[in-house]
Amino acid sequence: MSARRSQDWFGGTGVNGFIARSWMKNQGLTDRDFDGRPVIGICNTYSELTPCNAHFRELAGHVKRGVREAGGLPVEFPVMSLGETILRPTSMLFRNLVSMDVEESIRANPLDGVVLLCGCDKTTPALLMGAASADLPSIVVSGGPMLTGRFRGRALGSGTDMFAMSEDVRAGRMSEADFRAAESCMSRSAGHCNTMGTASTMAAITEALGVALPGNAALPAVDSRRRVLARDAGARAVEMVHEELRLSTVLTRAAFENAVKVNAAIGGSTNAVIHLLALAGRAEVPLSLADIDALGRSVPLLVDLVPSGRFLMEDFFTAGGVPVVLRALGDLLHRDALTVTGLSLGENVADAPDPDGSVIRSLAEPLAQDAGTAVLRGNLAPDGAVIKPSAASARLMTHRGRAVVFHGMDDFRARIDDPDLVVDADSVLVLTGAGPRGYPGMPEVGNLPLPKSLLRQGITDLVRISDARMSGTAFGTVVLHVAPESAAGGPLALVRDGDFIELDVAARRLHLDVPAVELARRRADWKPPEPVVGSGYQKLYVDHVSQADQGADFDFLRGRRGSAVHGDNH
Ligand code: FES
Repeated sequence: MSARRSQDWFGGTGVNGFIARSWMKNQGLTDRDFDGRPVIGICNTYSELTPCNAHFRELAGHVKRGVREAGGLPVEFPVMSLGETILRPTSMLFRNLVSMDVEESIRANPLDGVVLLCGCDKTTPALLMGAASADLPSIVVSGGPMLTGRFRGRALGSGTDMFAMSEDVRAGRMSEADFRAAESCMSRSAGHCNTMGTASTMAAITEALGVALPGNAALPAVDSRRRVLARDAGARAVEMVHEELRLSTVLTRAAFENAVKVNAAIGGSTNAVIHLLALAGRAEVPLSLADIDALGRSVPLLVDLVPSGRFLMEDFFTAGGVPVVLRALGDLLHRDALTVTGLSLGENVADAPDPDGSVIRSLAEPLAQDAGTAVLRGNLAPDGAVIKPSAASARLMTHRGRAVVFHGMDDFRARIDDPDLVVDADSVLVLTGAGPRGYPGMPEVGNLPLPKSLLRQGITDLVRISDARMSGTAFGTVVLHVAPESAAGGPLALVRDGDFIELDVAARRLHLDVPAVELARRRADWKPPEPVVGSGYQKLYVDHVSQADQGADFDFLRGRRGSAVHGDNH
């Protein structure tokens, strides 16, 4: 076994050994704690401004219990937290910043292994990206989903029902008072969104990647067994240090292929695409949008959860959660992929029950075939765009309609309900200026609300196209992540009101039906937008963020830099 990394600090002599140990002893540590036992960092995204992670101080206590009983020394450290519902202009602007915080915190401290406490949407990819670049033995503990909310006898899915009720208010089908009353019923316990939104999706993906213990995704946040899972993960982190089981050993091409397929089978969020691309870049695993389309095509939808289906995460847990899905997918997955348990993915779930046939379907009786995120290309998205077929309307999957163009969300909000807006059931709403650079940060606004005039006619979906993202809890025939984005000179910037746009999901085609000579004329007139902010972190972001098809990571953050650090601090 190689020398323990933490001993570079705690095993030292002279001033540097004194400094490393003495100040830590003010917390009640003693020489026994510095005897070479594995030091496990608990990377905590607790914050009262991240409601989904607000129970993490208590959860960290259970991880510590596990670390100690396995013979390790737990040390908890904070990193910037990302509250999806609170941060402006969008939490995505800060995903890469947090990943830097995580990577540098791991590398700069006397840690031998890490437990990553994450829950709300961006906290999971941010922590995994940072940890992958630092590459110590690392294991994820998710915070778990909220319990099912209820409003007047009806189950409420986080986000999804909010979007649906908001459209009901706009259509005059629901009062503002009832909308406000439902607000108090949706988030009834600790935990993250209880739909198959981005948080649940990313938690499921941690199981598929093999970086979390089986069952991590679906256990409700307040279930006592989540505390046991956290404790087990703490103990396992110590063992992983002994086994020198680094993240790079687990994050292989096979693991990513499994993750893409599981995302299809669970009806997961489109955001998973962008996070997996970014994480693969950190792990130095080749993965492209084309891979994601090809891998997801053959995978059926097995999980009947909102927003693609009917049920919520508590139901998914009762039905057995992700292990049931992994076992049901059988040979579609690389079952021999190594996981943080030290066993293969297949071994982890060998005893999982059969699908219940309701919340989780079998391969023989899926909810839908070919459920993967579809990657579209064409003259409107030369580098790709995505759509989630399982959350879209079948009648709009092949569509030709006239564009109604909005330049940014201010323009959209100002005009969407204008009685003079020319829009009908065949219109295609187009939003520009919402990509990584343009907004900046690529917000979740792609599921544009429909005009009141159409909602009142009973129209519930339109084709919508943008360089934005959308919440994993959202739904509709929504084309997202158009690359290159409009602010980078992508063809989306050249669309004009009245242009015909053709969408053909089966053919993976997104076409702007305007002659090339006319597009060339428009391009000659196009001027890049002025930056929203000219200094500070936002300038760093705009200068270095990649396009959506590359995962919107910073160009200088791709790859593994490892955990070696040179130079003493005194
Ligand atoms: Fe945190 Fe949905 S808002 S997971």
